[in-house]
Amino acid sequence: MKDGLGRSINYLRISVIDKCNLRCTYCMPVAGFEWIPKSEILRYEEIQAIVREMAGMGLRRVRITGGEPLVRQDLPELVRQLRTIPEIEDISMSTNAILLPRFATELRLAGVDRVNISLDTLRRDRFEEIARRPVRLFDETMHGIYAAERAGFAPIKINTVLLRGLNDDEVADFARATRNKPWHVRFIELMPVGENLHLADRFIGTDEVLERLLEIDELLPDEGPRGNGPARYYRFAGAPGSVGVITPLSHNYCDSCNRLRLTADGRLRTCLFGDHEVDLKTPLRSVGSVRAAVESALLDKPERHLLVMGSDKGSGGLGALSQVGG
Ligand code: 5AD
Ligand code: SF4
Repeated sequence: MKDGLGRSINYLRISVIDKCNLRCTYCMPVAGFEWIPKSEILRYEEIQAIVREMAGMGLRRVRITGGEPLVRQDLPELVRQLRTIPEIEDISMSTNAILLPRFATELRLAGVDRVNISLDTLRRDRFEEIARRPVRLFDETMHGIYAAERAGFAPIKINTVLLRGLNDDEVADFARATRNKPWHVRFIELMPVGENLHLADRFIGTDEVLERLLEIDELLPDEGPRGNGPARYYRFAGAPGSVGVITPLSHNYCDSCNRLRLTADGRLRTCLFGDHEVDLKTPLRSVGSVRAAVESALLDKPERHLLVMGSDKGSGGLGALSQVGG
């Protein structure tokens, strides 16, 4: 698939639910949020039909996201359905790992190739402040990461959003983890969206993160694990893992964007931000095909996002990233 600017599109991020078992400060408000009504949420068969049709147009890789995807009933069933689509080469998932002790093995058998795990702190005593849920869920997260390793998921990628004064003093600890384990820790710059603008002064740019990493030891540029998207990777000499940086703000990578997003209620978004989206659910339910809608969405994919730190201009009225799966 090509978009209107000639970029090749082969990757779809599928949000299967807007709910989550955490309330990470930057991602989801504690209260006052309206959930998508159940009748509006795509059924697994409908997601499968959309992916199948898009696979015929050139889609090759999908990632399952949320909210927290494992909060949705019987997620492995969706994976089994997507696995029946021959063109899809890679199925990955983004999760906070809390439910992986229960699901890791089943997901692996169902056909998930890789998992990315969101983990913003290695310190038990900080979890509640960042994720705003009881600390026993931190213990579940850690068990979930080990369960993913035991189930054979590799590479294990960890996503970490650094917030000044909350967890930025853990850069070295995360970096050390990559020297002990084959973990690929990616520091993601905080993206400003409607509900988290009060965090603007906690933003830390990647240049500062790299400086701190260089204080630890020499960093060698690295190819990074397979399935790499916009992250840039480095490695400490001899380390089994790597550190990566994802820089939506300081160096945007929109010119090589290869992705589309499907919301839980069936809107195809051509950019994380802004209001470029088309409804797929209506054509799917009425005429049984989304092809024309996908084609018009591709033509409308914007050149780049217009985010500015400290402002909600550019996020296009998006209340939180949990609504579109990050
Ligand atoms: N800025 C940066 N990353 C975010 N995520 C969620 N909200 C934001 C934000 N505002 C990340 C989560 C998770 C991924 C799916 O998106 O940390 O790792
Ligand atoms: Fe949930 Fe992930 Fe958002 Fe945290 S970042 S609230 S784990 S969806």
